[in-house]
Amino acid sequence: MDTQEGSFFTTYILTTVILFVVAIYFTYILVRQHKQNLRLAKQKLTSEIKASEAERSAIATELHNDIAPHLIGIKMRLASIEGLSDHPQVEACNHAISECVKQIKNLSRSISPISIYMLNFKEGIRYFIEQHGYNEMMNIEIIDETTVDLGKEANNQVYRILQEIVLNTIKHAQAKDLVIEISETEKELLIRTQDNGVGFTFADNKRKKMSGMGLLSIENRVDYLNGTLIVNSEANSGAQYNIRIPKSMLG
Ligand SMILES: Nc1ncnc2c1ncn2[C@@H]1O[C@H](COP(=O)(O)OP(=O)(O)OP(=O)(O)O)[C@@H](O)[C@H]1O
Ligand SMILES: [Mg+2]
Repeated sequence: MDTQEGSFFTTYILTTVILFVVAIYFTYILVRQHKQNLRLAKQKLTSEIKASEAERSAIATELHNDIAPHLIGIKMRLASIEGLSDHPQVEACNHAISECVKQIKNLSRSISPISIYMLNFKEGIRYFIEQHGYNEMMNIEIIDETTVDLGKEANNQVYRILQEIVLNTIKHAQAKDLVIEISETEKELLIRTQDNGVGFTFADNKRKKMSGMGLLSIENRVDYLNGTLIVNSEANSGAQYNIRIPKSMLG
């Protein structure tokens, strides 16, 4: 190898090494940026979910502690007007006010975080189903084989997830039956729901941006709990929601 060939070879090797180092550096920057984006997205999701729960809680408290007592006050005043309390119109007003108070209390319960009223999501979802009479519209079976304590935060998230699944089944599935199965493995909490309704195509809905807020909120809440969601459904074959949540996120 003469001197010219030698220096060409050295330049070639040097250029290759420099290009390689630059490529590694850029890959490292990209991976770091991607991780940072993921971390920021997760933080945003967490604060959005927390803010929305705080807002619901504030509205529920306002309804329960301010508006309902206010209406009850009006009812008492009406009753105290001498000579008028037996008047049919006053009775009708009293009845209407009592109905409003009942509805407000129900609304307050259903939007408030579960921890205010219930001990756990299973009680909460049973109450939700009965309160709205959904068990009279289709058979809803809850199979529960768990003993794990979810803790306040996860209880609330799982309750909201099940609320949306039950609502979706009632609104869209035209199903006769809905089975909600809750079980656990050593490391995970498993939630599986199955209906026998008209079904839908999850990927199609997402592609055509047909999703409302419901599926998105289920995805976000599962994500928030570091879990996984798989929706198995095709037209005319019912819908199945499969959720796995690591136990490290509970308690
Ligand atoms: N169990 C189900 N059976 C049949 N179709 C379903 C079922 N669950 C969801 N879908 C379909 O997926 C779509 C998206 O559901 P999603 O909960 O995101 O929105 P929505 O229920 O229409 O509105 P929102 O939840 O915002 O009130 C529904 O419009 C419906 O077509
Ligand atoms: Mg919905």
